[in-house]
Amino acid sequence: MKATIAALAGDGVGQEIVPEAVTVLKAVGRTFGHTFDFIEALVGGQAIDKTGVPLPPDTLALAKQSDAVMLGAVGGPKWEGLDYSIRPERALLGLREQLGLYANLRPAKLYSMLADASTLKREVVEGIDILVVRELTGGIYFGKPKGIEKIPGGERGFNTEVYTTEEIRRIAIVAFEAARKRRKKVMSVDKANVLESSELWRRVVIDVHKQYPDIELSHIYVDNCAMQLVRNPKQFDVMVTTNMFGDILSDEAAMLTGSIGMLPSASIGTKTGMYEPIHGSAPDIAGKNIANPIATIASAAMMLSYAFKLDKEAEAIERAIVATLEQGYRTKDIHTPGMTLVGTREMGAAILKNLKG
Ligand code: IPM
Ligand code: MG
Repeated sequence: MKATIAALAGDGVGQEIVPEAVTVLKAVGRTFGHTFDFIEALVGGQAIDKTGVPLPPDTLALAKQSDAVMLGAVGGPKWEGLDYSIRPERALLGLREQLGLYANLRPAKLYSMLADASTLKREVVEGIDILVVRELTGGIYFGKPKGIEKIPGGERGFNTEVYTTEEIRRIAIVAFEAARKRRKKVMSVDKANVLESSELWRRVVIDVHKQYPDIELSHIYVDNCAMQLVRNPKQFDVMVTTNMFGDILSDEAAMLTGSIGMLPSASIGTKTGMYEPIHGSAPDIAGKNIANPIATIASAAMMLSYAFKLDKEAEAIERAIVATLEQGYRTKDIHTPGMTLVGTREMGAAILKNLKG
């Protein structure tokens, strides 16, 4: 097949990890007889520096026309003083909104040879395989009214947590469908003991569940969920939740796997999908050839399977990652005594070498 992929490396470590994933995808193309054309464009802080805005119209147009978008990361201390409306993070939110990417899939799976890299005990994390299904274009991230206004004696900052039936319905469907291909369990995370938006969330999820009698559905409050994730993470299969709760819980789930540098993601909707690591631009380690490229390379695998239905090719990438870890190669974030410490480029090269048709 032939596909055009927008490569938006962005800021910080994004500049180092995206090229590694692009190299792997090109090799997959050669091995399996596909043509992947990459078109680079500015996004985030580097776009602000060059054009004044985080998501230039050209970049958005490219993303919309492409068959898939590969994104690195956006943001950094340099742009933190800017107004919210033109911060690097706006590019990410703008892409999600403009591409209609309402579902964000974040698989947290532990590679058993990394169990000792986790801050939790091996017996707690061994065997975890969780899929966080995060709603991505609604909730408090996009709800209106929002703003900061003057009031007597100071200011008032406000955002709105809001969900419609339809927004909840479509994300619930994604979760139940995903569960069908896995262990057939969905845990819906809300705060229905306090929030009206959560009350509706729970009601709609229960309603959608009627179409999925083969799936076991349970509900959990977000605070308890945060606790259960570190207490007994193996109880989770698919977790479905709001934009904000999903943001927080997916970082927590990522750490169970040893490092946030391991977790890929797919953002899907009705049109072009976007594939990116869940970690950020990590300005503290950027430019030093330290960052772990695995999350981005694994995101490339998700792209192959979700955007192009190339499951065999996606599995080849996953096998290459496993083989590389089995050979003992580790970036700093997942390094444990006795293993071979390598940099971003060396890790990318090792995975490339292990890629087999
Ligand atoms: C993520 C990130 C983003 C989010 C930021 C960078 C806007 O934390 O993708 O999880 O909050 O969604
Ligand atoms: Mg986040």
